[in-house]
Amino acid sequence: MSRRIVVGVAGELAPGQRKLAFIDGRSIVLFNIEGSLHAIDNTCPHNGAALSSGQLEGCMLRCPAHGLRFDVRTGCMAGTGGLSVTTFPVDIVDSKVVVSLDAPNPTPSQARAGSAAT
Ligand code: FES
Repeated sequence: MSRRIVVGVAGELAPGQRKLAFIDGRSIVLFNIEGSLHAIDNTCPHNGAALSSGQLEGCMLRCPAHGLRFDVRTGCMAGTGGLSVTTFPVDIVDSKVVVSLDAPNPTPSQARAGSAAT
């Protein structure tokens, strides 16, 4: 069962803005991409750099350390295959922004593998 944690209030982030949240020793970055909220782990899967200060280009976030780019909606790295950053489900509940921590979103390849097994 996932833990749902309130990390803010609806409307506090304008499109293109981000917010860093610390929850249970974990660092998560929340983004507003064209009006939709997305949450990712703040740790780059390449070498652990903080992604929160990366440059955002549309939905693509560039890691400030070595420049790998990740889609904040899916966590997938730009291009074919490669690394992916953990993403978390985000919901608005009673005008609060809620992140589900123990149920990271599957990457698209994980989702396809899961649906093929059933
Ligand atoms: S630590 Fe992010 S690209 Fe190397």
